[in-house]
Amino acid sequence: MNRFISRCLLVAAGFLAALPAFAAKPNVVILATGGTIAGAGADVAKSATYQAAKVPVDKLIAGIPTLADVAQVRGEQVFQIASESFTNEHLLKLAKRVAALAKQADVDGIVITHGTDTLEETAYFLNLVVHTAKPIVVVGSMRPGTAMSADGMLNLANAVSVAASADARGKGVLVTMNDELNSGRDVSKMVNIKTEAFKSPWGPLGMVVEGKNYWFRLPAKRHTVDSEFDIEKIDTLPAVEIAYGHGNVGDTAYRALAAKGAKAIIHAGTGNGSVAANVVPALRDLRGQGVQIIRSSHVNAGGFVLRNAEQPDDKYDWLVAHDLNPQKARILAAVAMTKTQDSKELQRIFWEY
Ligand code: DGL
Repeated sequence: MNRFISRCLLVAAGFLAALPAFAAKPNVVILATGGTIAGAGADVAKSATYQAAKVPVDKLIAGIPTLADVAQVRGEQVFQIASESFTNEHLLKLAKRVAALAKQADVDGIVITHGTDTLEETAYFLNLVVHTAKPIVVVGSMRPGTAMSADGMLNLANAVSVAASADARGKGVLVTMNDELNSGRDVSKMVNIKTEAFKSPWGPLGMVVEGKNYWFRLPAKRHTVDSEFDIEKIDTLPAVEIAYGHGNVGDTAYRALAAKGAKAIIHAGTGNGSVAANVVPALRDLRGQGVQIIRSSHVNAGGFVLRNAEQPDDKYDWLVAHDLNPQKARILAAVAMTKTQDSKELQRIFWEY
């Protein structure tokens, strides 16, 4: 009897010792928005022919039983759309939900599943406006879960493990695709037909391998907790539009965008954000009418626009987007212009974020 009791006590002690491990599992919320990671096709041989935004978040979670080993995971279906249809209203709604969750004591990290087309814009927006040190990880996939060698399962498992890890705190919004840990500020979709689709022009921050993060560098630009922008104080975004620079370009698009009410135009220029000679007068006119002109570069692997190099920005009162690609420049301009219309202030913001 005594032996039986002591055996029971031993078993009970073992059980109690295991309890903290259970209790200590971080809480991760997955906010699902659609995209290929929730896509489905009719045929395993089709990796590019399928419908995005079909699979609900609970099914995505149920499809990866090992998630429960790293975190207590729950999902919310915020949207179910292809990300090319994201609007400013979607951005605002998502960011407000992320910020509200980040304030909750029972949330340790947040994952956002997203279509890859505008993933880089959402990640940068959240990086600018959500005030938290808790890990926020945006993730997508290049192949639907119904295709051979689908990448969504591992990408999502990595995203959850990163969101659950203490060492991912304070590093700004992260994007985990193809085992890389990229900054939401820097990362961009560089190719649309490979699983190695996302790259940062200045390199990834690290790698996530078998549930462990390996960091190599930290973001140098202001983000999340250090940002002067706060989603709790932003309810609308001003109209910021993009016009593309190319050979034989005219000024029609720029003038039309301004006539439709654009408060700022991102010039997606060639090279160093260059402006064709026959477009310069239109951009000077529009600046005179109060429209902010922001020169960026559409050079794919990393444009880098310098002030007063190709164009006399000081004289024309134009801005440069620094190393931000046109779509990221749109996000920063819209956020910044909720606070100031002063071009010197706006340029400071473009250097700092
Ligand atoms: N239409 C695309 C989107 O939702 C699907 C592409 C993807 O998620 O990879 O962004």
